[in-house]
Amino acid sequence: MSFLDQLAELRARATAALAESVHDLPSLQAWERQFLGGRGELTALLRGIGSVPAEERPEAGREANALKRELTAHYEAREAELATADLAQRLESDAVDVTLPGRRSPLGTVHPVWKMIDEVSQIFALMGFETVFGPEVEIGRYNFDLLNIPSDHPARDVWDTIIVESDREEIVLRTHTSPMQARIMEQREPPVRVIVPGRTYRYEAQDASHEWMFTQIEGLAVDENIKMTDLKGVLQEMARQLFGPNRRIRFRCDFFPFVEPGVDFAVDCAICDGKGCRVCKQTGWLEMGGAGMVHPRVLQGVGYDPERYTGFAFGLGVERLVMMKYGVNDLRAFAGNDLRFLRQFAAATI
Ligand code: DAH
Repeated sequence: MSFLDQLAELRARATAALAESVHDLPSLQAWERQFLGGRGELTALLRGIGSVPAEERPEAGREANALKRELTAHYEAREAELATADLAQRLESDAVDVTLPGRRSPLGTVHPVWKMIDEVSQIFALMGFETVFGPEVEIGRYNFDLLNIPSDHPARDVWDTIIVESDREEIVLRTHTSPMQARIMEQREPPVRVIVPGRTYRYEAQDASHEWMFTQIEGLAVDENIKMTDLKGVLQEMARQLFGPNRRIRFRCDFFPFVEPGVDFAVDCAICDGKGCRVCKQTGWLEMGGAGMVHPRVLQGVGYDPERYTGFAFGLGVERLVMMKYGVNDLRAFAGNDLRFLRQFAAATI
């Protein structure tokens, strides 16, 4: 077979193969390797051009090059075609129906205890109190000693303590937020006005009004001339803002080692206006917490001069405030992780 015939035969086979067996990019590449590539048939044929008689050689060369261009053009055209088809197919199979409604991601809500803390913080901010936070794992010295509760003091039994470590130094889960009184006073000079919200822990059997973990807000104000009437005014203002303009505050004598005098304080029940109802257990009063004038020994312990400075302190139970405000009757609901309970507060502005 002459060289030109061989070229013609190759053209025929290559064209037929392209039509019959190329249907995607891999088979196109195989075709290109077989006919066009460096080890393909056309290259092999060209290598033999030396044996073509000299007078026919120029034409043979032209024809071979023409075939090469032709096959290359076929290859490129087919490649473009396949790429377009491939894209169209992917567009179809990956299509997203944008008219379908989206899936809503679940939105959390602020926990009612923290809503209350926010509210109380705002009320106190307007009275000049800064909100600060302290450690939940506390040293015995702050939880007890600097609060005038020495190791052998019977009052230490009142705070059923969860002890973390007792080898070298006594480390406990704080039983109240009061240790922050000492920490803050150690860091600052008067005037001091802070509130300290946070979790507290006691080793306690659980029931509707006892939890081993609960939340308090501590308050502390120290300056020259701070008096018990200041304490009463501040608490009364808080009660009015939380529970309504007509609320009254009641102080009764109580004992806490870090205050003298010490009181417990209550607000008259907003539900029955103090007449007696289920929420206030017919007493007309709702207990909010303890308070008093900072004990001179506590002031001395942090290096303040008790002759010059006086102060008041209070501690509120936050869950109690939410219970009073919304008539929740079981303390265990707050850490119970029942979404049905928590969602009820989603819209509440407290
Ligand atoms: N820390 C006390 C408790 O948990 C509450 C308390 C009482 C705090 C009197 C005070 C206070 O700041 O003055 O039982």
